[in-house]
Amino acid sequence: MAPPTNTLPDRTTFEIMYAGKPPWEINKPQQPFLSVADEVVSPVLDAGCGTGENALFLAARGHQVTGIDFVEDAIRRARHKAAERSLSVRFLVKDVLTLGDWDERFSSVIDSGLFHVFSDDDRRRYVQGLRHVVEAGGRLFLMCFSDGEPGTQGPRRVSWPELYDAFAEGWEVKSVHPVRFEVNPEVTDFSFSKGGPKAWFAVIKRNE
Ligand SMILES: C[S@@+](CC[C@H](N)C(=O)[O-])C[C@H]1O[C@@H](n2cnc3c(N)ncnc32)[C@H](O)[C@@H]1O
Repeated sequence: MAPPTNTLPDRTTFEIMYAGKPPWEINKPQQPFLSVADEVVSPVLDAGCGTGENALFLAARGHQVTGIDFVEDAIRRARHKAAERSLSVRFLVKDVLTLGDWDERFSSVIDSGLFHVFSDDDRRRYVQGLRHVVEAGGRLFLMCFSDGEPGTQGPRRVSWPELYDAFAEGWEVKSVHPVRFEVNPEVTDFSFSKGGPKAWFAVIKRNE
């Protein structure tokens, strides 16, 4: 059962979390994105990129990457990391719920921990926006909390059928595998499963 809409995180919630220590800040990419690096095709969009580790990892592999996030401080930190590492990534302050109004097109989108933050309505709007910006035949690589993760701390849990439902029109879900999110071990105010929160890693193709 999804939590009520008023418990879902808004921009202010994320701003407050970035002012402290967000559990997802691990200063490296999430492991499943390493495993699919050879399948990713440029140009790439990192939706809800945070401070940019996944985007920077792909840029270091030679990809043309754009990272967007609606928290200015996260984007400022992502740009700083890119400069420090001499990597070229376009990091933009942008709400992903406006993707439907964007002229840009991408061959791949990565989503590490974004899909699971939305209400049902915003989830539909997000997926519609993705349909608009992902080229026919392009792919979405998505990692979200799974309903295998006990408790209610942190983001919404997403079931396997929910994932299939969300991408039923205009997409083909190619694979969904159980994985774990890595979280910052210094952050102790969340009690997730030992080994990290249980998650899904999905590869979803935009129909031709
Ligand atoms: C769990 S964090 C993951 C950050 C990053 N992808 C990572 O793996 O480290 C979710 C991110 O999505 C961003 N976000 C949430 N809703 C958003 C929206 N509507 N538009 C843009 N960014 C959003 C948050 O600011 C946050 O940086």
